[in-house]
Amino acid sequence: MPKISYLECSRCQSHLSAEKAQTVCPQCAGALYVRYDLSPLHGATARETITQEAEKGWSGMWRYRSVLPEAAPVTLGEGWTPMLRSRRYANAYLKEEGANPTGSFKARGLAMCVTMARHYGLKKLAIPSAGNAAGALAAYAASARMEVNIFMPKDVPFANYVEARMYGAKVTLVDGLISDCGRIVAERKEREGWFDVSTLKEPFRIEGKKTMGYELVEQLGWEYPDAVFYPTGGGVGLIGMWKAFAELEELGWVKPGKRPKMIAVQSAGCAPVAKAFEEGEKVSQMWANAATIASGLRVPKPYGDYIMLEILRESGGLALAFPDEEILSSLKDWAENEGVLLSPEGAASTAAYDHLQRIGYLKPEDRVVLFNTGAGLKYTDVIAEAAGLARPS
Ligand SMILES: Cc1ncc(COP(=O)(O)O)c(C=O)c1O
Ligand SMILES: [Zn+2]
Repeated sequence: MPKISYLECSRCQSHLSAEKAQTVCPQCAGALYVRYDLSPLHGATARETITQEAEKGWSGMWRYRSVLPEAAPVTLGEGWTPMLRSRRYANAYLKEEGANPTGSFKARGLAMCVTMARHYGLKKLAIPSAGNAAGALAAYAASARMEVNIFMPKDVPFANYVEARMYGAKVTLVDGLISDCGRIVAERKEREGWFDVSTLKEPFRIEGKKTMGYELVEQLGWEYPDAVFYPTGGGVGLIGMWKAFAELEELGWVKPGKRPKMIAVQSAGCAPVAKAFEEGEKVSQMWANAATIASGLRVPKPYGDYIMLEILRESGGLALAFPDEEILSSLKDWAENEGVLLSPEGAASTAAYDHLQRIGYLKPEDRVVLFNTGAGLKYTDVIAEAAGLARPS
């Protein structure tokens, strides 16, 4: 594993030391990127160390430990998830993140975050969450024997509440959205001695999520796809994957080619990024009355909106939003025709793929990766209600 050279602000580019736990840029409150000296790892021979690491037992996302911070991992087996080829669309691959521990991609970011929290000797963590991040943090914190304080909307999928409680987290259900939960954590953290691991308010969740970018490129034979569909709430995955692509190019590990178009997908009931993208804005506006069955996408004003919007434009991609009915109908379609029960967030990706094919933006020969960020089984209450299913009495 490389030593971290420094942390770099995503907004004003100032440098900070990684010797102690950091939050955001003290100058401008921008999110921080972890930077390394990657030069010793340049080239194809160094790239082969990944398979060697995996053979030595560094499995899951830790196969990429040569490009992750130097620390003893807190792991539950996250990463290296299946890349499923669609039965119907020859060039569409489903990245099945529901196969992660705690059933979502949040496992990657929070495994890395808790790994570093333990490395820095932190004892009490706090998180505002739309649901899956809370479940993942609770699991890794239990494994590292740390205290965790969770604030999430009272109407999260029931599985998120149950898992967090079972892992022993202190859970507060809030009558509001993730933005309200974030405010409570910000108000109380100093008094309570909590370290705030909110989306983009510490640098390591991006590092965990960047492994999705390494992984999709490796699973496609170290080649870029033409487009990546990503259901976007706070946007850490999008930001992490873009960072991975930059590193892969610096390392010379990816076959020369154009980076994929990044397609951010939201729900029409909460689409601040899609709206800002469409209007050519650099930041989003707070979305009023956010409501959607895709609970992970219910983020009314993402902290990293400025980074996401820049990435979407630089990649030549798009941000789109679909009504819940269309999301649900795509969920049913993939369950019946592909044998995969998507999360509502994942079904936003598949709905977007259908749409972009229909309007001719994508051709059938375009190679695409569709992210199913969570397992549909975490949403049985939500899906059953939306589909009008009840246990027969
Ligand atoms: C299943 C699922 N998909 C997507 C998202 C959005 O993720 P991000 O915050 O990385 O944009 C979430 C966030 O809670 C989620 O739980
Ligand atoms: Zn800054």
